[in-house]
Amino acid sequence: MHNPFEPVRDGRTLHTPCVAIIFGATGDLTKRKLVPALYNLAVDGLLPPRFSLISFARRDYSSDAFREELRLSVSSFSRRKPLRDDVWEEFSSRFHYCQGNFDEDRAFVRLSEIIKQMEDEVGGPLNRIFYFATAPEFFEIIARKLSEHKLLSASPYGGEARVVVEKPFGHDLDSARALNISLLQCMEERQIFRIDHYLGKETVQNLLIFRFANGIFEPIWNHKYIHHIEISVCESLGVEGRAGFFDQAGVLRDIVQNHVLQLLCLVALEPPVAFEADAVRDEKVKVLRSLRPLSNECLSRKVVRAQYGTGSVAGKTVPGYLQEPGVGAGSTTETFFAMQVAIDNWRWAGVPIFIRAGKRLAKRVTDISIFFRQVPFGLFSNHVEQVAENVLSFQIQPDEGIALKFVAKPPGSRVRIQPVNMEFSYGSSFGVEPPDAYERLLLDAMKGDATLFTRKDEIEAAWSYVSPIINSWREQGAGAVVPSYDAGSWGPYEAEHLLFEGAGKGWRRL
Ligand code: BG6
Repeated sequence: MHNPFEPVRDGRTLHTPCVAIIFGATGDLTKRKLVPALYNLAVDGLLPPRFSLISFARRDYSSDAFREELRLSVSSFSRRKPLRDDVWEEFSSRFHYCQGNFDEDRAFVRLSEIIKQMEDEVGGPLNRIFYFATAPEFFEIIARKLSEHKLLSASPYGGEARVVVEKPFGHDLDSARALNISLLQCMEERQIFRIDHYLGKETVQNLLIFRFANGIFEPIWNHKYIHHIEISVCESLGVEGRAGFFDQAGVLRDIVQNHVLQLLCLVALEPPVAFEADAVRDEKVKVLRSLRPLSNECLSRKVVRAQYGTGSVAGKTVPGYLQEPGVGAGSTTETFFAMQVAIDNWRWAGVPIFIRAGKRLAKRVTDISIFFRQVPFGLFSNHVEQVAENVLSFQIQPDEGIALKFVAKPPGSRVRIQPVNMEFSYGSSFGVEPPDAYERLLLDAMKGDATLFTRKDEIEAAWSYVSPIINSWREQGAGAVVPSYDAGSWGPYEAEHLLFEGAGKGWRRL
C-alpha cells in the first residue's frame, strides 16, 4: 500500500492523486473552459497521477454518453488541435457522470460512494477538488450538502478537500458577505479557492515578476515618477446570449469589481514579504483598503456609465444593447464603465488611476499603461514644442507583451524628437503559446496553492469599494439617464472628458 505521507512524484512536480468533481457539468463553462483546460494539462503531462473527473449535473446522461459529449467539446475548444486520441483515452478513462439535483441527498450518497471507491483503489491520499460551476444560487446548498455528507473533511487516507467557487461571488457587499458566512460554516477559509480567471493569465502573473524580479523599475514605481495610470478592459463582443445574467449585473459587477480591481492591485501593491498566497493577498487587501472612498462629488464627476447603441463592429452592423434579445425594456444596465480612482497611501498619493471596461468597443484589448512624468526642465524647448512622455504599457491580451515608449532623435542635422518603442512580445521571445488561464488555476487548486485566488477579506474589500456606486445607481432608479455610445467606438464622450479633466489628455490609443 502507498504510504499516505509520501506524495506521489509525477516527473516535474510533486502531486497527490486527485479527483475533480464539477458541479454544473453540463454548462458552458465546463465544456468551453474547464474540461479543455484539464485536457491541455494532460497533454503536457501535468495532471496528477490517476486523475479522475466526476461530472455532477441535473440532466440525465450515462457516463459513456457524457464522455462522448466532452470529447466533442475538447475537440472544439482546446487550444491543442487536433485531439490526440492516445491522451484522450488515458485522460477520459476515469470519467464518471453523477446525476442529481444539488439538494438531493441520494445524489450526494452516490457521489460519496464513487469517491470512496476511488480512494480504495488508490489506497492512499486522494485530493478532492469540488468545482462550483453552477449558477451562484446553488453555491450554498452544494456546500451544505458536501459538508453534511462529510465530503469536505480529510479522508481516512489523508486526502484534502478544496472548493473552487466561480464568479459571480455575490452581487453586492451584503450578498458576498452572506456567501462567505455560509461557505465558512461548511469549510475553512484555506479550503476555499475563489476564482478570478484574470489572475491565471500569464501576462497578469508577469506583472509581479516584472516589478519584483527586475531591479530597475521598482525605484521609479511611485508618485515621484508616475504621472497617471490607465487600465482598460475593452471587449468587442456584446452580451452574446448572456443577457439574462448580464442585464442584472452590468459591467461594474461583471468585470470591474473583480478583474479590473485585481489588475489595479497587482500594479499598485507593495512588495510582498514572500511569494506565497497569504503574503501576496495581504498586499492586495492593503491596496483595496487604501482606495479613497467615493464621495458624492466623486460619484457624480469621476464615475461614468454608458450603454451601447447600434453601431458597427469589424464592418458588421450590430444592434444596440436595448435591442439585444433578453434585455429588459428600458434597461439602464451599463455596458461601459469608467472612473478615476485615487489610492491614499505613501506610494501613490496624487497619482490618478483611470479604469475603464466595456462591451462592444472598437476592439478586444486589455492594457495597463503607466505614464511617467515629464523631465523637470525643457532642454530642447527651442527646437521642439512638446516632448512625448515615457509610457510603459502591458498588453495583457490579445498580443501579449510589454512596450516602453521613449523619445529619440531621428537622423539628420536638425534637432528633432520623436517617440519610439522598445518592445517585448511573448510570442517572439518565448515561441510558445501562453496556456489558458484555467489551466494554471486548476493546477494551482490541485496543488493547494491559493496565491492566484481571492481571499475572503479581499473580495469583501472590493465589493465594499464599489458599493457606493451600486447604491447611487439604485437610488437613481429606472429613470436615470445613461449616456449612450456607438457600438464599435471607444465609449462615450464622458469617458474621454474624465481623462482630459484628470490627466490633461485623452485615453491612450490602443
Ligand atoms: C468574464 C465576464 O468574467 O470575463 C465576461 O463574465 C467577459 O462578460 C469575460 O466577457 C472576459 O474574459 P476574457 O478572458 O475574454 O478577457
